[in-house]
Amino acid sequence: MITPAEFARRRRELMRMAGRGAALVVAAAPRRMRNADAAWPYRQDSDFHYLTGFPEPDAVLALLPARQRGEVVLFCREHDAARERIEGACVGPEAAVAHFGVDDAFPIEDIDDILPGMLEGRTRLYCHFGRENEFDARLLRWMRRLRSSRGGGVVPREFVSLGHLLHELRLFKSPAELALMRRAAEIAAAAQREALRAVRPGVAEYQVEAALLHALHAHGAVPSYPPTVAAGRNACVLHYNANRGRLAAGDLLLIDAGAEVQCYASDITRTWPVGGRFSRAQCALYDVVAEAQQAAIGEVRVGRAFTAAHTAATRVIVDGLCGLKLLPGSARAALQSGAYKRFFPHKTGHWIGLDVHDVGDYRVDDEPRLLEAGMVVTVEPGIYIPPDDTSVPARWRGLGIRIEDDIVVTAHGQEILAAGLPRGRADVQALCGA
Ligand code: GLY
Ligand code: MN
Ligand code: MN
Repeated sequence: MITPAEFARRRRELMRMAGRGAALVVAAAPRRMRNADAAWPYRQDSDFHYLTGFPEPDAVLALLPARQRGEVVLFCREHDAARERIEGACVGPEAAVAHFGVDDAFPIEDIDDILPGMLEGRTRLYCHFGRENEFDARLLRWMRRLRSSRGGGVVPREFVSLGHLLHELRLFKSPAELALMRRAAEIAAAAQREALRAVRPGVAEYQVEAALLHALHAHGAVPSYPPTVAAGRNACVLHYNANRGRLAAGDLLLIDAGAEVQCYASDITRTWPVGGRFSRAQCALYDVVAEAQQAAIGEVRVGRAFTAAHTAATRVIVDGLCGLKLLPGSARAALQSGAYKRFFPHKTGHWIGLDVHDVGDYRVDDEPRLLEAGMVVTVEPGIYIPPDDTSVPARWRGLGIRIEDDIVVTAHGQEILAAGLPRGRADVQALCGA
């Protein structure tokens, strides 16, 4: 759990980075409609959540460094018996001050009257301009109002990208954040195990997905993205999530699924043999991917470049593909020409945190970023042989394998989250057979 004290620490740190002359404004995620008047399940904006833990739409946070009457101001929904009868209770301004550690809270209806005055005297406004049209229009209205109502007072002249500061903070995970991510990974691992119990020839991918979702929800989590449950050649579609196909004996089944716990994500992939035994071709490819992942995980440590894991994984995969004659010529030539990308078309990982593909710069001063303790990355090499690739013998076609884990950079090495979920071929096969 993230404590109110930790949310407060984040806000203080952000204000310190922005400086006394700045104001920072962050909006809650709007409610989004799925179709007609049915809404998608609500998910708070990650930045807004990071700074407040406040769970509602129709809210705006203003951070006003060095303001005498309170630096942290929240605008949120006021109690409204008729609306709350339909949508449930809201927090309300009074409880926001009492429970969310803000200095002041006002009804969101009053923001146009109150906030512009608070921005007066500040030279820079940090915000996410260009993300939500409606909020952009509001920001511009406030600026216009400020300019027209003042004769020469200081009005913010610049919108500065809030992401530069805030996303740098989000890149480094605290012990409490790591605890939530550990839990999210453990639940995703448990969901893989549950899903596996549904795996047998003849069942539909959505039936396996149902077992997976049941496990996620039974642990109080939600999916951190639509799960991929891809049997056979469907695994060659990287973000496949139709999940309408059927499992056949001898197929591989690729499951890429994550849990979200208190807004923190996991992102785990395993590739299982339907029927419990890998074929010889599947074994050969699986071992290459597993070795690539192992090599890449070894590069996730303090001081290594973010790109080192991908370089290591690519080297193993190219060696493996050349050794199996899936790529002609030497490994060196395949690396240089990029010919391997036909079978390994994506990168080996990404930051993960509140967002599955989390925020944070991958390059600094035009160099790959060096890893530091507290960063969390995925390591997810894969090999996918397109079903229609007639340049390789038929036994390879349509095989898709990925192994993905979430790795914390620690002071002395790395921590694989949910490390107990098998990833080596023998252990994977044993678990399937059981
Ligand atoms: N599940 C999305 C990804 O692996 O990046
Ligand atoms: Mn991933
Ligand atoms: Mn994934």
